[in-house]
Amino acid sequence: MGKLHTLLALTLQVLYSCHAAPSVSNGFFYQDILNGTGNGEIHFDGIKLRVESQPHSVFAVRGSNITLPCRFWYEPPLISSRRVRVKWSLLPIYGDQEFDVLVSIGHRQRSFGAFKDRVRLRKDDRGDISLIITNVSLKDSGLYRCEVIDGLEDESATVDLGLRGVVFPYQPHHGRYHLTFKEAQKACNGQDAAVATFDQLFTAWQEGLDWCNAGWLADGTVQYPIVQPRQPCGGLDLAPGVRSYGARHKHRNHYDVFCFTSTVTGQVYYLQHPQKLNLTMAVEACIKDGAQIAKVGQLFAAWKFLELDQCDAGWLADGSLRYPISNPRSNCGPQKSGVRSFGFPLPHHKHGVYCYKSR
Ligand SMILES: *[C@@H]1O[C@H](CO)[C@@H](O)[C@H](O)[C@H]1NC(C)=O
Ligand SMILES: *[C@@H]1O[C@H](CO)[C@@H](O)[C@H](O)[C@H]1NC(C)=O
Ligand SMILES: *[C@@H]1O[C@H](CO)[C@@H](O)[C@H](O)[C@H]1NC(C)=O
Ligand SMILES: *[C@@H]1O[C@H](CO)[C@@H](O)[C@H](O)[C@H]1NC(C)=O
Repeated sequence: MGKLHTLLALTLQVLYSCHAAPSVSNGFFYQDILNGTGNGEIHFDGIKLRVESQPHSVFAVRGSNITLPCRFWYEPPLISSRRVRVKWSLLPIYGDQEFDVLVSIGHRQRSFGAFKDRVRLRKDDRGDISLIITNVSLKDSGLYRCEVIDGLEDESATVDLGLRGVVFPYQPHHGRYHLTFKEAQKACNGQDAAVATFDQLFTAWQEGLDWCNAGWLADGTVQYPIVQPRQPCGGLDLAPGVRSYGARHKHRNHYDVFCFTSTVTGQVYYLQHPQKLNLTMAVEACIKDGAQIAKVGQLFAAWKFLELDQCDAGWLADGSLRYPISNPRSNCGPQKSGVRSFGFPLPHHKHGVYCYKSR
């Protein structure tokens, strides 16, 4: 009776998937389900498919290669190997669509979108379906799912990819609270960065980021990190923490933004130049030096990862004036490591400049 029931359920499922042709479920095709394993097996009695990802989270910097661990096996073990389908996807953190990263059936593999030609399965040994991502980008951070499908069995595990980097608050030259969500994304991208996630801002707060202006985060919420509660920043009664205005209207509401960037490949430096320069001259001076005027994200990354330390204010690409300090000392701003900002001087004012060379 039990057997019959199973068979019936199976037939129904197969019928169902035939009728829903082309039966795309989770991006897999099920139509050869009766033939998929090569040995006629459809379901296993008492054999369990296991999938595991250990460790559950890994960290990378931009531009590096990273392996997201995942393996599968059967309990009890099988003697012959089976043809399974493997699928890696990037799970939505915020209501976005789940994103296919790679699908593999036998020796065939296909990768998608921004992952095209940047991902492959490691396959070090049987059951190893770890994902290798090359040239990690800022957009790669997030939760990945590793899924194995064998006939009707479908098991998965997840692994989190975090990026090491630096969060910086950003407001454009026209002042405080001027960015819609889309403009905020554009502003960060323009500075060699991406809009920070909550996790990234939270880590930055733990490391001491204290900022009294509210900014967009990647999930469409608006928040700000406070280490020292004070009157003008929500008052003294609120505990330190990342304070949230919640989700705001992405088109109608205007705020600053928190940007996130990771390492720079190349060099950020203060240009040694006989005279101070206005903004147009500063741009040209970097080009003349075989470089480009540095972006804000590049300066932050050089400060964070290369300990760039220079007590001279310089122009940056967005028309802001800043300098990076890793070894705090007198006459170089507060007794704290950081990138000092002087806002956006008028473009005819004369200052130094920071340049960026990719090699
Ligand atoms: C079964 O699989 C084999 C090998 O993959 C293939 O050559 C054959 O055409 C398949 N048969 C059916 C009925 O799908
Ligand atoms: C990453 O992997 C690619 C291809 O396997 C290799 O060419 C490159 O040198 C690696 N990059 C780093 C930073 O290890
Ligand atoms: C790595 O990706 C960046 C874009 O994210 C691209 O500009 C760069 O050329 C890539 N590097 C390599 C070695 O493919
Ligand atoms: C900077 O100085 C140059 C040369 O004196 C001048 O041509 C240019 O208009 C100035 N740019 C700005 C933004 O003041």
